[in-house]
This record gives sequence, C-alpha cells and structure tokens, in this order.
Amino acid sequence: MNLKLRLARATDLQMIFRWANDPVVRANAFNPHQITLEDHTKWYNEKMKNRNTIFLILEMNDEPAGQIRYELQEDEIIINYMIATEYRGHGLGNEILGLGEKYLAVIELPENIHKIVGYVKKENIASLKAFNKNNYLCLENEGQNHSGSFRFEKLIQRNAD
Ligand SMILES: CC(C)(COP(=O)(O)OP(=O)(O)OC[C@H]1O[C@@H](n2cnc3c(N)ncnc32)[C@H](O)[C@@H]1OP(=O)(O)O)[C@@H](O)C(=O)NCCC(=O)NCCS
Repeated sequence: MNLKLRLARATDLQMIFRWANDPVVRANAFNPHQITLEDHTKWYNEKMKNRNTIFLILEMNDEPAGQIRYELQEDEIIINYMIATEYRGHGLGNEILGLGEKYLAVIELPENIHKIVGYVKKENIASLKAFNKNNYLCLENEGQNHSGSFRFEKLIQRNAD
C-alpha cells in the first residue's frame, strides 16, 4: 500500500465538493448544512490562494483517498480532515494524521506556530481514536467555538529541532 500526501490542486474542486457533502462528513462537521456548488467554488478558490491554508490530498496507490487541511490561526494550526467513504475503516484516518505531521515537519512554518489542534465531536469515535493513536493530548474544549467537542493538541516537531 503506497500512501502519500500531495498539495490539492484547482482541478480537485469537484472531488472535494463531493467529499464535503458526504452525510457522515456533514454530521461530524461543526456546520452540518449541505454546501452548494456556488459556495464551495468561492470557498475552494479562496483556499487555493490563501497562504495560511495547507491543503493536502492523501493518495493511496496514486488514487485520491482523503484530504487534510491545516489552517494557520494565530499561534496554532487547526486540522480538518476526512477519508473518502470507500476508503474508511482501514486505518487511513490514523495514517493521514501521521503523514500530515511529517509534512509539517519539513516545510517552513512561521516561528510563532507551536501547536497542531483538532476539534472532534464527542460522538465521532473513529476520529477520537485516530487522534489518540497519534498521541495527541485530549482536552475538554473550553473555548466558545466547537461546542460539544474535545480539543486535541500536539506540539509541532520541526525536523531541525
Ligand atoms: C474520522 C475518519 C477520518 C477516520 O478515518 P477511518 O479511516 O475511517 O478510520 P480508521 O480506519 O483509521 O480508524 C480509526 C479507529 O476508529 C475505529 N473506527 C473506524 N470507524 C469507526 C466507526 N464508524 N465507529 C467506531 N469506531 C470506528 C477503528 O476501528 C480504529 O480503531 P483502532 O485504532 O482501535 O483500530 C473518517 O471516518 C471520516 O472521514 N469521517 C468523516 C469526517 C470526519 O469525521 N472527519 C474528522 C472530523 S474531526
């Protein structure tokens, strides 16, 4: 099984649209509403240009199998990720988090960014397990956003450290 991450491209727009409206993805997202193609197109094109977004596609044997997006916010990086329906339940949730960390370790990030953070709904067992397996610290989320979630966090390992 050959797994790798690559940067998302403009031509991934439709695939990401399909994935974003998957019912399980919407149910586990903090905004549960279906997304229109028009809104998605605006959002996606903005993400492609945004220097604070690192948007990656997981490929298994050269086929797209999931995505992980990192948003740089103040001194943290917020994770958003999913595995395509037909690839779920084979450990790829664990793998994408691990590969993402390796990716972050070798790129240049602003000096003030120290932590990777994921917010996970308490009922999202598969995601809770994937963060636990990757040794993220699990905290009660006491922030105002993402209510009813755990906050998982981990210090960023830079390869130069
Ligand atoms: C969350 C998600 C990325 C996990 O990916 P996955 O490839 O399905 O999960 P994995 O196969 O890596 O499984 C991780 C663990 O959860 C368990 N698991 C998988 N699916 C499960 C389910 N539906 N219910 C309960 N446990 C489940 C696995 O057995 C595994 O446990 P283990 O580590 O004890 O063996 C995937 O289910 C998904 O894309 N969900 C929709 C979007 C989403 O929730 N994203 C995350 C938002 S925080």
